[in-house]
Amino acid sequence: MDSFNTKAVHGEKVPGTIKSKITPIYQTSVFTFDSLEDMEAHYNGDGSYLYTRCGNPNSDELAAVTARLEGAPSGVAASSGLGAIMAAILAVAKNGDHIVAAHDVYGGTFYMLKEELARMGIQASFVDFEDQAAIQAAIRPETVILYTESIANPFLRVEDLNAMSTLAKKNNLVFMVDNTFATPYLVKPFELGADLVVHSATKYIGGHSDVSAGVVVGKEEYIAEAQKRVINIGLNLSPFESWLACRGAKTLGLRMERQSSNAKKVADWLSTQEKVKEVFYPKAVSEKGNGAIVTIHLADQADESAFFRSLGWIQIVPSLAGVETSVSWPFGTSHRSLTAEEKAAVGVSEKTVRISIGIEEAEDIIAQLEGALNKA
Ligand SMILES: Cc1ncc(COP(=O)(O)O)c(C=O)c1O
Repeated sequence: MDSFNTKAVHGEKVPGTIKSKITPIYQTSVFTFDSLEDMEAHYNGDGSYLYTRCGNPNSDELAAVTARLEGAPSGVAASSGLGAIMAAILAVAKNGDHIVAAHDVYGGTFYMLKEELARMGIQASFVDFEDQAAIQAAIRPETVILYTESIANPFLRVEDLNAMSTLAKKNNLVFMVDNTFATPYLVKPFELGADLVVHSATKYIGGHSDVSAGVVVGKEEYIAEAQKRVINIGLNLSPFESWLACRGAKTLGLRMERQSSNAKKVADWLSTQEKVKEVFYPKAVSEKGNGAIVTIHLADQADESAFFRSLGWIQIVPSLAGVETSVSWPFGTSHRSLTAEEKAAVGVSEKTVRISIGIEEAEDIIAQLEGALNKA
């Protein structure tokens, strides 16, 4: 007769034949085998699972849905957007290699390339990607990756992915694109020639500001390498985070459609406002919309502290892409570590406000912003 503690840990499990509508959360660090032969079958590629760091049904589902939406054959989930970028880069680059990256990549990516990868012997040059001659001039014999973002932040420069992919091919480089801001609803970099596409699923794929996650999708040979980095470095995404991101992905199209259409209305309205000096909102990203971020420079006479204090239900959030409209202050957050000269060079000042447009009614978003502008 088993004792109390033994009875507490051994017993009937939920049968695997239960047909839940939604994929359950496989909140387990490890999987079991009925025999040594079954375990051997795993190593021979029967598709069973071994250990969550090496693969979990929930993170595989997130990789699969993202790959499907991007039109790519394969993918792997990672612990965050930066985890995904690290896995993607290390799938290709090794000690001694060099990367040419757009100078306006996300600050965390910039820092990773400049500091962390440099410590591993991988150098990066940052170039204005509007200047193709400058990109060509920065390419060295040891360059292996051309790295950019489909929509760059905070001024929402839209990358010419066709041109960059041609340039990468001509120079035999792996073309890597961060598609976080555009999402595959608006832009599909893989179909435009990217070899690897990365996402901070923390943003639009998750969509509800409740998960940190990343995904890499792309050509099978690179994804196989990225997957090895995820496993060997420990960049895997937890089952619950994967599950939340998968739930978000289901409404990605609906949210992007609504948020982009709201953003256009808000951008048009902002461009008529006296207290707003300049509005940045992309044109011609896609016929489905131009994204859900609007950046503004407040007028010189406007008081930015008063503006941020008077936003009503719009929250100050150093991130983006939730269903709620939020604002961030690049000067004091994403671009904080830049010197005054570097900030001036990228055009970020105290008056710069990045607005992440949500799913509310556009008129209500405008009313909140109007209240803040009146106080600014
Ligand atoms: C464009 C872009 N890429 C990558 C990242 C990093 O993502 P995460 O914070 O999920 O690591 C961010 C975060 O803001 C981002 O904006």
